[in-house]
Amino acid sequence: MLRTITTAGRAVFSAKRLHRLSHALPGGRRLAALIRNRSSRNAAHFQDMYDADPDPWHFRTSEYEQAKYRKTLEALPTRRFGSAFEIGCSIGVLTHLLAPRCDALLAVDIVEQPLRDARAACADQPWVQFRRMQVPDEWPEGNFDLIVLSEVLYFLSPKDVAKVADRVRASLDATGLVLLVNWRGRSGDPCTGDQAADLFIQRTGLEPRVQYQEDTYRLDLLGHPQAATRFR
Ligand SMILES: C[S@@+](CC[C@H](N)C(=O)[O-])C[C@H]1O[C@@H](n2cnc3c(N)ncnc32)[C@H](O)[C@@H]1O
Repeated sequence: MLRTITTAGRAVFSAKRLHRLSHALPGGRRLAALIRNRSSRNAAHFQDMYDADPDPWHFRTSEYEQAKYRKTLEALPTRRFGSAFEIGCSIGVLTHLLAPRCDALLAVDIVEQPLRDARAACADQPWVQFRRMQVPDEWPEGNFDLIVLSEVLYFLSPKDVAKVADRVRASLDATGLVLLVNWRGRSGDPCTGDQAADLFIQRTGLEPRVQYQEDTYRLDLLGHPQAATRFR
C-alpha cells in the first residue's frame, strides 16, 4: 500500500504526491506498480482528474476508445435488455452507445461532474437515468439483465472487487449477463485489469460466454452457468 510519509507526525509526502513522483522517475511506471495503492480510489481522486480535464481519458476523440467501444458492443448478444446497469459511466460516451440496446438503463458514477456531461450526451434517450453512486458501498434496488463494468474494476481494492462481485451476483437476473472491460497496462491503481477481472470472475462463479483479449485490454462477457442464454 502507498502510505503517506511523515516526520514528527507531519506529512512530508502525501501518498498521492509519492505516487505522482514515482511516475516522474526513470522506470517510474514500474515503481508505481510496485508501490500500488491497495485502497479503492476515492471520489477526490477522480474529481481532481475531471477538474484538470472534463474528458480525462479522451473517450470522445480517441480512436483506441472508439475501437474498444465497437468490440464491447459486438460482444453483446443481439437481444434487447429490459433493465441494464452501467457502473462508472463517466461522461456517458459508452452509455449513449449501449442505450439503444436497452429498455431501461441506470448509469452511475462516483463523481457528479461527468454526470452533467453524460446527461447532456443522452438527452435524446429519456429511458437512461444517471445517478451519483459510490460502488460497492452504494448499490441500486432491483434486478438487472445486463451489468456493465467498463474500465472501472481496477480502481477498486481487491476487497471491494469481491464486494462488487457479491452485489452483482445478488442483483443479476437468472439469464442476465455481465460485461467487463479492463485495461491490462501497469499503473499505481489498486489492481491490474487482469487481477480485477480474474478475482471478479472467480468470486461470482459466473461463466465466460465471450472472451476477447488484446495486449492493451481484455473483455469478458459472463453469465450464470445454469442459464441456457440465447446469445445471438
Ligand atoms: C476510466 S472511466 C470509464 C468510463 C466508461 N465506463 C468507459 O469505459 O468509457 C472510470 C469511471 O469510473 C468512475 N468510478 C471510479 N470508481 C467508482 C466507484 N467506486 N463507483 C462508481 N464510479 C466509479 C470514475 O469516476 C470514472 O468516471
